[in-house]
Amino acid sequence: MNLLAIETSCDETAAALVAETGDAARPWHVRSSIVASQTDIHREWGGVVPELASRQHVRDICGVVEAALAQAGAQQADVDAVAVTQGPGLVGSLLVGVAFAKTFAWARDIPIVPVHHLAGHIESLTLAHGELPLPAAVLVVSGGHTSLYLVSEPGAYRLVGRTRDDAAGEAYDKVAKLLGLGYPGGPVIDRLARQGREDRFMFPVTRLTHADRNAPRATGADLLPADVARRTDFSFSGLKTAVLRLVQERSAGLAPGAMLPPDEVADICASFQRAVVDALLERTFEAARWLGARSVGIAGGVSANSRLRADAEARAARSGLPVFVPPIALSTDNAAMIGAAGLRRYRAGVVGSWEFNAEASLPLS
Ligand code: KG4
Ligand code: ZN
Repeated sequence: MNLLAIETSCDETAAALVAETGDAARPWHVRSSIVASQTDIHREWGGVVPELASRQHVRDICGVVEAALAQAGAQQADVDAVAVTQGPGLVGSLLVGVAFAKTFAWARDIPIVPVHHLAGHIESLTLAHGELPLPAAVLVVSGGHTSLYLVSEPGAYRLVGRTRDDAAGEAYDKVAKLLGLGYPGGPVIDRLARQGREDRFMFPVTRLTHADRNAPRATGADLLPADVARRTDFSFSGLKTAVLRLVQERSAGLAPGAMLPPDEVADICASFQRAVVDALLERTFEAARWLGARSVGIAGGVSANSRLRADAEARAARSGLPVFVPPIALSTDNAAMIGAAGLRRYRAGVVGSWEFNAEASLPLS
């Protein structure tokens, strides 16, 4: 079975052809994967401009699908089903993919499978490594999401923890912006942090440990002891504000518009990154232990981070819990992962009607 997958939830227009292998332990194979990035367009504005993103998806979608078919040496007639990201994401961007996918499936009279973007990130792990030892604790950490899931059986995802405010990738992007490093922030902070001192600035990391009666119910309350569930949620807006204050303080004596010295910028990047990575991994590994997980997965754009990968490996070695991270090409947004999640759903009997629509916010159940 060959499935054509489409992903347009944010600022990448992506298409992939994913095939079944017939091997239950390693069920899918990527025949082709094309990603047209809009980064150059949005960089000028310091972030993704939704209207520009939608318009660019319209321009790119046909060419990207043609390129995916060509890379696989396949024809339209070889496609047996279509999968598309239904949400969450920018609704105008999602609509382009959904409209294209429905049209393709309708014209060829083949099934269409709507896919949750985060299910795609989670399944990028199985796509790359085969079925994970279950139960698995899987952290999805991207520009829009920081959520921890328990995967107890293939295709069943239960939310255990999530950010109460900013996503980790969003914190990277905002900190890069206030340091004048451009968009997107993750890769450039990752690079500069390697030259900086991570113990120079002690940034605080919010720990949601106490029972605040104004706080919402802890996310993983039905899966974890109450005190563990409370500290499994994430929060990054305080860290971002701490970096902002420090930059304002340090820039006070400089001429208007002048940049901080490069060594100081590198130290801020390293210290910020240490705080983010520690917060992510501490909570993930603690929850994994309580959940009786047999493996840990880390997926999404921020899983491309070199420090996160190295520290996750080190924790894995210490704890005896294997850690799985996708290759970089499957970390950031792509359609191959949507194809993997699409095949998983299709084999579970899920086929979309022609009525389903793009959804800016969509729960993963
Ligand atoms: O998964 P993704 O491509 O899109 C969303 O679903 O949001 O994630 C994009 C995010 C951006 O915030 C970007 O700055 C971050 O992933 N990112 C990184 C790295 N590469 C991308 N963050 C930290 N280190 C990286 N190397
Ligand atoms: Zn994503």
